[in-house]
Amino acid sequence: MIRIAAVGDVHMDRDVLGRFRPALEELPDRADVLLLAGDLTRHGTEEEARCVATEFGNLGVPVAAVLGNHDHHRDEVPQVIRALETAGIVVLEGTNLVLDCGGVRLGVAGAKGFGGGFAGRCASEFGEPEMKAFIRTTQAIADQLGEALREMDCDVRVALTHYAPVPDTLAGEPLEIYPFLGSYLLGQAIDSAPTELALHGHAHAGSERGSTPGGVRVRNVAHPVIKQAYSVFHLYPPYAGTGARVSAAGETGSS
Ligand SMILES: [Fe+2]
Ligand SMILES: [Fe+2]
Repeated sequence: MIRIAAVGDVHMDRDVLGRFRPALEELPDRADVLLLAGDLTRHGTEEEARCVATEFGNLGVPVAAVLGNHDHHRDEVPQVIRALETAGIVVLEGTNLVLDCGGVRLGVAGAKGFGGGFAGRCASEFGEPEMKAFIRTTQAIADQLGEALREMDCDVRVALTHYAPVPDTLAGEPLEIYPFLGSYLLGQAIDSAPTELALHGHAHAGSERGSTPGGVRVRNVAHPVIKQAYSVFHLYPPYAGTGARVSAAGETGSS
């Protein structure tokens, strides 16, 4: 069994420091890895990123993250990434990471994602250059995510994004802003590989559970949604040699 802790949208700043740390100190007993689903900072400043590093660094378990739109706001992404990496946090953007969890290879592919909307109610690559650039951006990110998922040599695959890959986990958000909260192209990328679990954030007023058209479980781990320091997902690798998969997932939390 692999235990994956996850949270997004922690929006760190100096006044948030220490809020998560007491629960995080217990993490090595409860999880094998911590995944951060973007919007780690409030406005994307280097100083806020150092707060993330202080709060989520040196936990005793590997930590991987994607950035969110807030982490881009000040156009200091290289500085933000450097601050996170200094604390040992691996930042994924169209890239992946394979971890050995007690002999089971956990593959995590991550990308921030972007908007565009969902089938039947989505923007398309048509018309003005600005609209085409919008959708081409999402398509390029989704293509990188799909490739990063498919290329991994691992036993269990997890997708990590900030933007939502399905509309299910947006329930509670105004319908009018769905196109700014995610894209079905991310869901297609996730379905292009045998993915076990897809985690995202961004939708603070959304809901926790959903699934892709291909049946991959999707969980919105935005902190305002899970209302705890992190959720823990239990994943079971396939039986060796049979191809069968124990697909039960436990979901617990820590406040
Ligand atoms: Fe957020
Ligand atoms: Fe966001």
